[in-house]
This record gives sequence, structure tokens and C-alpha cells, in this order.
Amino acid sequence: MDRKYCFDHFNVISRTPVYSEDSCCFTEEQAKDTVRFHTSLPFYQVTPLWSMSCAAKEYQIDSILVKDESFRFGLNAFKGLGGSYSMFRILCEKLGLDPMTTDFSTFQREDIRKACSDIEFVTTTDGNHGKGVSWAAGIFGCKAHVYMPKGTVEARRRAIETAGSATAEITDMIYDDTVRYTASLAEKNGWILIQDTSWPGYERFPRWIIEGYLTMGEEIRTQMNGQLPTHIFLQAGVGSMAGGLESYFMNLAGDQKPVVVIVEAKGSDCIYQSAQANDGKAHTAVGEAPTIMAGLNCGTPCGLVWPVLRDCTSLYVSCEDVVTEQGMRAYAKPAGTDKAVVSGESGAVTYGLLRNVFESDRLREIFQIDKNSRVLLISTEGNTDPDDYARVLGEF
Ligand SMILES: Cc1ncc(COP(=O)(O)O)c(C=O)c1O
Repeated sequence: MDRKYCFDHFNVISRTPVYSEDSCCFTEEQAKDTVRFHTSLPFYQVTPLWSMSCAAKEYQIDSILVKDESFRFGLNAFKGLGGSYSMFRILCEKLGLDPMTTDFSTFQREDIRKACSDIEFVTTTDGNHGKGVSWAAGIFGCKAHVYMPKGTVEARRRAIETAGSATAEITDMIYDDTVRYTASLAEKNGWILIQDTSWPGYERFPRWIIEGYLTMGEEIRTQMNGQLPTHIFLQAGVGSMAGGLESYFMNLAGDQKPVVVIVEAKGSDCIYQSAQANDGKAHTAVGEAPTIMAGLNCGTPCGLVWPVLRDCTSLYVSCEDVVTEQGMRAYAKPAGTDKAVVSGESGAVTYGLLRNVFESDRLREIFQIDKNSRVLLISTEGNTDPDDYARVLGEF
């Protein structure tokens, strides 16, 4: 039976998960393929996994590990993993290349580069996915068109154009409407829609995007020397990243399943609201969604990962902006000799939440945190909105 708890700046639903193989379709095998592709990129580097040992000691748990995706491909966020792998698979298919034996070196051939230069992609983004697509289009020698929802800050639009070969435009529509508009442009112009969420009839390309994110899982596994986390806190927009990694770790964990916590921005909390509806179906979030967590500002869960998010998650949390602000500051000014992490609005919310959990015995109990807990967090972006980052850190 689900339980709901309301706290000052966040609400929590707890549920007893029911693991099933059918709901966890992203696995180690797929991760091996994506790692093979990503490691063929000349600029590939494993991103750091920081151990916040002073904070763990202070809060009397075994460990807090933070995967720092601000170092990914020089893009300041994890998203390029998905865009690049999906684009690779799409191009292989279009050009008749076998993805299992092809890697990035094949795309240096003159005939392949010439063919790529005629191919155009299109996508919607609130920032990081578009930057990843622009960058990937640049390295494969393709063109790309990126559309952004209203309210997007100009710095994010510019960063997309600077990252690679895309043009980027801010629309006057909300995110979900921009996705529909982009899909219609793809149809009209013969562009390839490369979107990081799925819906009935549009599943193959987003599946490859989610598989691309699994490279993070494989890196973490190696960095943890085979010892898996007991708790994984994953922030979600449409849930593609969270669901992909949740599925990967559930498959890996055998009988020792981790407690998975899905964390969203209030108002864009479509997974939380779907859990609350408790009818097995994914629902579009109801309510206005102004939030500084731009990457989490999405209204509809990704259908491909909805089964794992529904069945395997222990806790769903909907947070106000103040929680991520706490996380951003705590990362920037850590305890003792812990590494300072530059984490943006969508990157830090899980750490802000964890700090709140540590402060209360009741929350520790609800989150099943004790002295043996090994908590994994992913700081999914760095400082992607410099003005807001300075505001939050009081650096004006
Ligand atoms: C920095 C950051 N973190 C998390 C997310 C959430 O990813 P998803 O939309 O796959 O849930 C996004 C999405 O754009 C993001 O940019």
C-alpha cells in the first residue's frame, strides 16, 4: 500500500516495489554496446565519481558517492551520451552500416562524411539534450535544428549553437507543445526527429537515447569495484535517464535490490502524480510548472521507462526549488576535505533532498537510511545557467 507524507518543501510517496524482468528492459548487455561506441570517441573520458566521505561520516552512513556529469564531453551535462548514441544508431541504419562492428572511426571516411552532410535532425529541449544533439551532429558532420520552450534563458540557447552544428530557437510554447511542433516540422521537412522521450509509435530512437545513458551505469559499476549502492537517488524530467539507470541497476543487483528514489520538480512532477493516481498508467502532470530546475521541467513520463519507474521505485518525491538551492550550496561548500562539486539546478536536487533526510529521524526511517547505507547521487549538470547559479550561491 502506498503512503503519502508532506514535509515543508517536498512531498513523498512510499511504495513497496515489485521487481519484474518485464519492466526492466535496459540491461548490462546494452550498456556494453553503448560503452563500445562512446569509448571510440576521441574525446571520451570517464567522469569522476566523488566520495563525500566527510559528509558521510558527519551523517553516520557508509558512503555518499556523486557521479559528476559536468565533466561529460565538455558539455557540462550527461545528455550528450544519449544524443550521440542514438544519432550513431540512426546513421548506421540510414547508411547501411552494422552498428555492432562500426564505431566512430568509420565516420571519418570521406564517403560517409559526405553522406552525413545531407542529413538533418530536429529536436525539442530545455537545454542539455539540445546541446548534446548539436554537439553530436557536429562530430558526425550532420545538420540539426533545436527548438526550446518559452521561458528558456538565452545563455542555454547560445550554448546549444556553440556546442556543435545546430541552430537553436526559443518558441512561445510550453515543452510538450514544442515537442508536438518539432514532430510536425520533422514530418514536413523530411528531418529526423531525435527526441529524448517516447510515445506510442515513436520508440526506437528514444530507446537508443536511453541506452546511451547506460554508459554512466557501466562507469559507476567499475568505479565502485563491483560493490553496488544500497540507495540510488535519480532526478527525473520525463524519466528517461532515471528509468534507464534504475532498470540497469535492478538487473545488476540480483537479490540485493537498491532503494530507488525518483525526485522531481513540483508542478512538473508527472511521475509523482502518476504514482499518486495509482492506476498503473502514466499521467501528464496537472498544474503550472515554473521551476528553476529547467531540465526537469517536463509534463509527461516517457512511456518506455514508465513500467520500471512504476514497479521498482520505493520513493517518489516532488520538490520545491528551495530543495535544489540547498543542494547547489551544499555541493559548492562541502564539509572538510570533500570535493566541491559545481552542480546546477537540475543536478543538485537529489543532494538537497538527501540533506533534508539526514536531518530527521522520521525521514531516515521512511528512506530506510542507516549506518550501512551507500548512497549514489548523480550530479547531472554543472553550472548551465551562470546568472542563476551566482544568485543561488549569493555571488552577486
Ligand atoms: C541536467 C539534467 N538532469 C536531469 C534531466 C532529466 O532527464 P530525463 O528528462 O531523462 O528525465 C535532464 C533533462 O533534460 C537534465 O538536463
